[in-house]
Amino acid sequence: MEQLNHENHKGQFGSRFGFMMAAIGSAVGLGNLWGFPYKMGANGGFAFLLLYLVLVVFVGFVIMLTELALGRKTGKGVVGAYESLSKKYAFIGWMEAIAPWLILSFYSMLGGYCIKYALSNLGDLFGASWGIGGMDSGEFFGEFTTNMVQTVIFSLIFVILTVIIVRGGVSGGIEKFSAVAMPALFILLVIVIIRSVTLPGASEGLAFMFKPDWSAFEGTGWIKVLSVAGGQMFFSLSLGMAIMIAYGSYLPKDQNLENSALVIPFADTLVAIMAGLATMPAVFASGFQPGQGPGLLFITLQTVFNSMGGFGPLFGFFFYSLVFIAAITSSIALLEGIAAVAMDKAIEKGKKPNRKKIVTILGISIAITASLVSLDGLGANGFPQFFGQSTWLDAIDLIAEGILMPLGACYCAIVIPTSWVNEEATLNGAQFRTKTFYDFCIKFIAPVMMVMVLLGQMDSFFGLGMFS
Ligand code: PFF
Repeated sequence: MEQLNHENHKGQFGSRFGFMMAAIGSAVGLGNLWGFPYKMGANGGFAFLLLYLVLVVFVGFVIMLTELALGRKTGKGVVGAYESLSKKYAFIGWMEAIAPWLILSFYSMLGGYCIKYALSNLGDLFGASWGIGGMDSGEFFGEFTTNMVQTVIFSLIFVILTVIIVRGGVSGGIEKFSAVAMPALFILLVIVIIRSVTLPGASEGLAFMFKPDWSAFEGTGWIKVLSVAGGQMFFSLSLGMAIMIAYGSYLPKDQNLENSALVIPFADTLVAIMAGLATMPAVFASGFQPGQGPGLLFITLQTVFNSMGGFGPLFGFFFYSLVFIAAITSSIALLEGIAAVAMDKAIEKGKKPNRKKIVTILGISIAITASLVSLDGLGANGFPQFFGQSTWLDAIDLIAEGILMPLGACYCAIVIPTSWVNEEATLNGAQFRTKTFYDFCIKFIAPVMMVMVLLGQMDSFFGLGMFS
């Protein structure tokens, strides 16, 4: 039976473990698996990692704490939370609520790809006709992405699974699923890492990721590295996108917020590094050059599994299953972030929110946008493209990750009173140990960083070359 928070009627996490798994599950996603290892390798290796860690501590932690506190104090989703502060800030909430809806459109498509690839590797394991059957990975990918019926069907399966879990409620759906899925993801990740780092020639991949390369910081290069690391951090920690506010609103008042805001980024970063250990050594051991994005996940890595012999399909199945888990624990968070807003609106009208109906309606709208993005086939099907991008995914990502997210986080740092955060962090006599540090970072460091991320994103998306 779903446990209801009497103040918000939307649900509540039943245990600290469940909350942590759901929040970490939201943070750990495709961003960790396909973005972090490559960006780290291509932007200074160990030097990038150090900078990333500094950003996580000085900016990620403080915004995370602010969003969780805002959610728990107001008991509302992102729009209601900002409205509680002042009606004139509602627009920040709406900006942050549109971003997850946009992201879900391509996240669902990619989640669908993961299902297809997990099944295809499983097929190979049994020598079935629906496996990859030794086909070249690039060709297989090309054939799949241009098969509009299949890509749409797999995206829809992913959307339906997401909807089923979120319809189950906070403790009965999201928490229950994450509490099983996240430990499973961790075990699968460890298995794949062991295989990857023990392949002959794996050390080159480790060198790619970890070898410090300070030359990336020369001249104005450091601005570019900073903006890449900052953008990655925000996306990876699911900040500026309604999620941590919604999850904060479901967190019982007796839970320590400061600890949560420290542990979630730590776990997310750990998994990002582990993802690098799982992928990069295998890529180099097989004689490939790393890339990022769908190409890395679905072409390069599949080629690696093809070249592993008899056990290849097994590791392929494990790997794509783990990417699927990472994707779905993020997509349920994205959907919940928007559903919380819709449920608040129903409550404002004096109605008892009908979670199942709201989630289903939102799910249908996402099914439509996800199908459209799937039809584009990552630009392979010849549809017109927008904003100078080569795929619909990139165009949508530009608006969500490049503009709405950093703007939302910047406003969050500026408008949320530190007294609110202090109040939430010290409930039940808890000690707010990082208070001085928090006050300084939220006032001076976080807003400046967000503006730099915004500039950096614009620069790289529009190819202006301002910082290279
Ligand atoms: N943090 C997820 C990732 O790294 O892939 C993506 C994401 C999930 C972004 C949830 C935003 C969000 F609200």
